[in-house]
Amino acid sequence: MMLHQNTVGDTFETEPVDLEYMLAIVKDHCSSLSVPVVWDPFVAPGSASQRYIAQRVNTPAVQLAWELATHDGVRDAGVQYIVTNPPFSNKSEVLRKLLHLGLPFVVILPTATMQRVFMQDFFKNGYWRVMIPNRFLRFHVGGRRCHSPPFPSAFYFWTPSVQGHVSVHFFDHLSEN
Ligand SMILES: C[S@@+](CC[C@H](N)C(=O)[O-])C[C@H]1O[C@@H](n2cnc3c(N)ncnc32)[C@H](O)[C@@H]1O
Repeated sequence: MMLHQNTVGDTFETEPVDLEYMLAIVKDHCSSLSVPVVWDPFVAPGSASQRYIAQRVNTPAVQLAWELATHDGVRDAGVQYIVTNPPFSNKSEVLRKLLHLGLPFVVILPTATMQRVFMQDFFKNGYWRVMIPNRFLRFHVGGRRCHSPPFPSAFYFWTPSVQGHVSVHFFDHLSEN
């Protein structure tokens, strides 16, 4: 299924400080000593997030297209974690597919997504950790800071687990602005 970019916000890129938070969540979860292979399926034209992630973890170039990615395909490509800021206007479709792919993931989504009916359905499966910063996340496009969305966003971590579990955590965001 093709995704359509419906809002300007769908092009907003993640600040490095927030990529760091997402990678820290992966590091916290990853028990192995080796560095994990991390895939960002939603890459902006400048690929800034992909390059940043590749520098921070030993991520080989993952040659996968989101539209074509399958449960077996992501494993065959060696992907261990998915870390991304997806187009918010397609969030339920994106989450449905991420859950189908079955790999642990960290995504940025609006904090209010927790209250959506589809999300409460998704919360019934697997282990979820929602990390809520004490400020609105900011974004950029091609390195130029954009206006913050007029709503707060959070980091949503998911990993497979037999029982559904959701925990919500609040933290001090260390960015100066
Ligand atoms: C919200 S931006 C985030 C970009 C990047 N992940 C980051 O964190 O900086 C979402 C990006 O997804 C890309 N995108 C939208 N639909 C896509 C698709 N079907 N496959 C791959 N990328 C897509 C858009 O070009 C857009 O730049």
